[in-house]
Order: sequence, then structure tokens, then C-alpha cells
Amino acid sequence: MQFKKTFIYLNLILLTNILFINALHADDGAKGIVKERMDKFKTSKTLMQKINKGLQNQDFNAIEKSADQLLIWSKEMIKYFPEGSDGMPSEASINIWKDPDGFKTAINNFQNASLNLITKSQTKDMEQTVNAFRDLAGTCKGCHKKYRN
Ligand code: HEC
Repeated sequence: MQFKKTFIYLNLILLTNILFINALHADDGAKGIVKERMDKFKTSKTLMQKINKGLQNQDFNAIEKSADQLLIWSKEMIKYFPEGSDGMPSEASINIWKDPDGFKTAINNFQNASLNLITKSQTKDMEQTVNAFRDLAGTCKGCHKKYRN
């Protein structure tokens, strides 16, 4: 039974992972703050992969560490989106500045989900930690859907 459960989780994790593989690499020629935030997002992707690996190895400390990094990023993210920093080669949508409250909400969702993953990883409960990871991944995608071109 335990094995079956674990197997289902791993499938979910793999699915999440596949969804991230297609992240675009449109940073050719990016400079300044745009380049900096692209690098931050690339790191976010690496951190999600580390968390994924941590789940497979049941390494809750590794999960917590990566979630900590994402929490720090969530707190500073808004500073990386000054007005007028859209346009090629950035994939930032104009909606970020047209709908600043919505964008802030998306950041907030990401921040809360990072915090929740930290809390859940500390309980060392696999099921809850997997769910928190999926929720967190959902906040990445949720923001991309609305605010990334
Ligand atoms: C609140 C909104 C928001 C959240 C949350 C968010 N992203 Fe993004 N992400 C963006 C925007 C906007 C861009 C486009 C940035 C640009 O090109 O200037 C982006 C770009 C990216 C890129 C492409 C970077 C590149 O090289 O151009 C990756 C990869 C990425 N995000 C991964 C993630 C992951 C993984 C998460 C969750 C852990 C996440 N993002 C959470 C808004 C968000």
C-alpha cells in the first residue's frame, strides 16, 4: 500500500517536471534587470528540480533549503519588474503593469506556497509535502499564464 502510494506520487512529480522542461530560453541579448530576473527564474527552475529530487530521496532538509531560497526570491521579485522593463527579449507581459494588483497577488500566492512547503517539509510528512510542492508549482504556472508572453 505504501509502495503504491509512493508510486502515484512519483508519477505526479514526473508530470510536474515534464511541464517545466519546456521553459523557453529567450534571454539572448538580455541586459540589466531583465537579465537578472531571467537568471533568478532559471534558478527557480533548478530549485524546483532539487525539490523534486528531494521528494524522491525523502530528503526533507534539501526540500526545505530550496523552498527557503524560493521564499527569499518571492520577497524581492517585485523589485525586478520596474515599469517599462517589458519588450524584447523579455517575455514579461504588459499585464504586469496594466494589472499591478493582480501581479502582486500572483507573487503573494507564490510566497505563501513557498512558506507552506517549508512548513510541510518540516513535518517530514510525504503526502503533505508533495501536495505543497504541487501547489507551489501551480503558482509558477498561474503567474506565467497571465503575466508571461
Ligand atoms: C508572479 C509571477 C511569477 C511567478 C510566481 C513565477 N514566475 Fe517564472 N516568470 C515570470 C515572468 C514575468 C517571466 C518572464 C521574465 C522576462 O522574460 O523578463 C518568467 C520567466 C521564467 C522562466 C524563463 C527564464 C528565462 O531564461 O527567460 C523560467 C524558467 C521560470 N519563469 C520559472 C519559474 C518557476 C519554476 C517558478 C516557480 C517556482 C516561477 N517561474 C514563478 C513570472 C513568474
